[in-house]
Amino acid sequence: MKNADLQARKNAATPRGVGVMCDFYAERAENAELWDVEGRRFIDFAAGIAVVNTGHRHPRLVKAVADQLDRFTHTAYQIVPYASYVELAEKINARAPGDFAKKTAFFTTGAEAVENAIKIARAFTGRPGVIAFSGGFHGRTMMGMALTGKVAPYKLGFGPFPGEVFHAPYPNPLHGVTTAESLRAVEALFKTDIDPKRVAAMIFEPVQGEGGFYAAPADFVRGLRKLCNEHGILLIADEVQTGFARTGKLFAMQHHDVVPDLTTMAKSLAGGMPLSGVVGRADVMDAAAPGGLGGTYAGNPLAVAAAHAVLDIIDEEALCERATMLGDKLKAKLIALQDDIPQIADVRGPGAMVALEFCKAGTNEPDAEMTKRVQARALERGLLLLVCGVYANVIRFLFPLTIPDAVFDEAIGILDEVLKETVGVPA
Ligand SMILES: Cc1ncc(COP(=O)(O)O)c(C=O)c1O
Repeated sequence: MKNADLQARKNAATPRGVGVMCDFYAERAENAELWDVEGRRFIDFAAGIAVVNTGHRHPRLVKAVADQLDRFTHTAYQIVPYASYVELAEKINARAPGDFAKKTAFFTTGAEAVENAIKIARAFTGRPGVIAFSGGFHGRTMMGMALTGKVAPYKLGFGPFPGEVFHAPYPNPLHGVTTAESLRAVEALFKTDIDPKRVAAMIFEPVQGEGGFYAAPADFVRGLRKLCNEHGILLIADEVQTGFARTGKLFAMQHHDVVPDLTTMAKSLAGGMPLSGVVGRADVMDAAAPGGLGGTYAGNPLAVAAAHAVLDIIDEEALCERATMLGDKLKAKLIALQDDIPQIADVRGPGAMVALEFCKAGTNEPDAEMTKRVQARALERGLLLLVCGVYANVIRFLFPLTIPDAVFDEAIGILDEVLKETVGVPA
């Protein structure tokens, strides 16, 4: 099978709306490496968009799924339940932020977790409104799109969206938005758009993913919690991208001294199997009536088995600590390159949720063109990198946390050469 043939067949058989970054086709993958159908090797710094924090085909995960395959693949949890779902909920309840009683419900995709968090918040408060933030990404369903704070390509041509959703700017000191301005903007919404007594929830990402890997400053998170407390609003942390050791903690909110009422999770929860969830205050989680939550595939037993393995792997291989160690190493390398490469405007991110932002030299004008060139050159050299940001000027690093040291060092070497080549610095 040839990549070019598959590409032609793909273009004829599937819609362009399902945009595809690479023009080569996966054959197999192992930990942090993948091979295409023509036998070419790539180092995978995309990890299926933050899904395989525990690496491709971790033997423990493969065994857990295979064992489950031998028992049963589907009963529909809402018809015939199984112990592994309940046990996983118990583990998540014990480990998610907050020392109050918690409950967890499982779904399939990140967008579905977000939809359900909003449903639960509305059921609990009896209020319709939701506040979200510019640059945020919450999925491709109707409410996911309504909450998302980035128009192209996610919302283009797909409206109208569900109502009663309002946006405030997410703090971004690099581009001139302070915490005080963001919090003032939320309060301004209460004057100009919606009575706070009609707001059910505020939803935010502790570190924006698609939006550019900007971390919420601690005083912003505290400010949101305070506003929520004052007005009886629920705080939802969307941890779909930040969860499961990526930021050096199991959940990114564990970097903060305040606790959300509800947390959404997906992606690396089940290491490549489709599983998402909502965890939160038991009283809030119980607000929806029986039958109001769920889905035919929600909490699929194969995916649940994978999630148990993921939690074990994170503990046994100390992946939170490893995320911090690898992230620090990468950041130190990139910061050292700043002298030679003035287009590196910022290197940031907690743990291994590292971002490299490019602006035109000496300005804070986003340089999407340079970002694209770095990504393309890296791909030519066999290193798969992802771009993000409202201005598409950020490289986000999402390598599996299980990546062997030698493969990590090889990737950093490629990156160093590619960055220097792109701006004409001698290697
Ligand atoms: C923070 C956040 N929320 C929600 C989603 C949507 O998840 P999914 O694509 O699984 O529906 C994403 C996906 O990137 C995300 O990063």
